[in-house]
Amino acid sequence: GSPILQHPRQSSKQRFVADLSQCLFDFVIQLLPTQEEMAVKEDVRKLLERLIRTIEPDSRLLSFGSTANGFSLRNSDMDLCCLIDSEDKLAAADLVTMLGDLLERETKFHVKTLPHARIPIVKLTLDPSPGLPHGIACDIGFENRLALENTRLLMCYAMIDPTRVRTLVLFLKVWSKRRKINSPYKGTLSSYGYVLLVIYYLVHVKNPPVLPNLQQMPPLRPITKEETHLNGFNIWFFDDIDLLRQRWVSENPDSVAELLIDFFRYYARDFQYNTGVASIRSGLLKKEAKGWQNDYSGGRYDPSRERNRLCIEDPFEIDYNVARCVTKDGLYTIRGEFMRAARVLATRPDRAIVALAELCE
Ligand code: GTP
Ligand code: MG
Repeated sequence: GSPILQHPRQSSKQRFVADLSQCLFDFVIQLLPTQEEMAVKEDVRKLLERLIRTIEPDSRLLSFGSTANGFSLRNSDMDLCCLIDSEDKLAAADLVTMLGDLLERETKFHVKTLPHARIPIVKLTLDPSPGLPHGIACDIGFENRLALENTRLLMCYAMIDPTRVRTLVLFLKVWSKRRKINSPYKGTLSSYGYVLLVIYYLVHVKNPPVLPNLQQMPPLRPITKEETHLNGFNIWFFDDIDLLRQRWVSENPDSVAELLIDFFRYYARDFQYNTGVASIRSGLLKKEAKGWQNDYSGGRYDPSRERNRLCIEDPFEIDYNVARCVTKDGLYTIRGEFMRAARVLATRPDRAIVALAELCE
């Protein structure tokens, strides 16, 4: 039974919402990675770092993505980024090839290299074993400093209101995986894209907001352009979370369940997919203003521009649409799923746990 006491005069809606919040916490907690899994992953990172250093002595291997931002589920893949601090370093493509050969010789990982990708990467997988029933999947990228920064930004957002933000994000990640709408390769949206949709909603849609806009807060001291820019992009954001938690309190009292219900309603019904761009830095933008209109350029259909059906601006690389992989069909499916979820929650079955099970069926 639910540990939340039910007041006899609660309406059925209040009861459902309270129940659903509790169910969401319980559901998400059992999907978090175990201490053991985190320890194994850290060991793998150290081992790989040691091996890379035999090729590039001044390199560091850092974790980013979900293992580093607080939005990790059990058995999620590892995202690693190799930074090289020396002046005369190997070209990334050569390093990728050499590292691939080395790992193939020295470890049990299956290795695949993509030396000429936008971000050159080495992809590793380890077969399942009794100690590691799901094996390990790991991508090593090179010099991807923007990804380290966007990981830190998401982590800061998670830390401002861990209960509501982490529960919502983790639930949506599970939900999108179970509903099979979390595959950029098949025309739907990456986990990173869903996380940005949640943050956008909490910063810019909810009124009063659940989260402040960390990228638009005034800095505590004057800062120079050199300090704030990386590869031409402004990567500054307010990251003194201890201070922020003393000074900023959200006036939004909604529970996790209320936020989730409204999240689905918003993306099922209200978000302007045809014209809007979700930007966590700047709020709702217009496709037109960013030059991200789709399909019709000069009145003719151009399938090569089939990149901007759904538009989510990266927090730092603002000329980059995180949802560029989402196709027409993919977006149709994703919106259909938002509608289905909104409908399931609106019918308020007797028990919240039934609603959750149906949502993730
Ligand atoms: P799971 O692997 O499903 O647990 O989710 P995740 O949070 O690790 O997200 P994902 O694997 O989609 O992305 C990992 C990290 O890669 C993100 O936190 C970003 O830092 C970076 N990343 C992923 N996709 C993009 C993208 O399209 N653009 C940019 N700039 N960074 C990305
Ligand atoms: Mg990942």
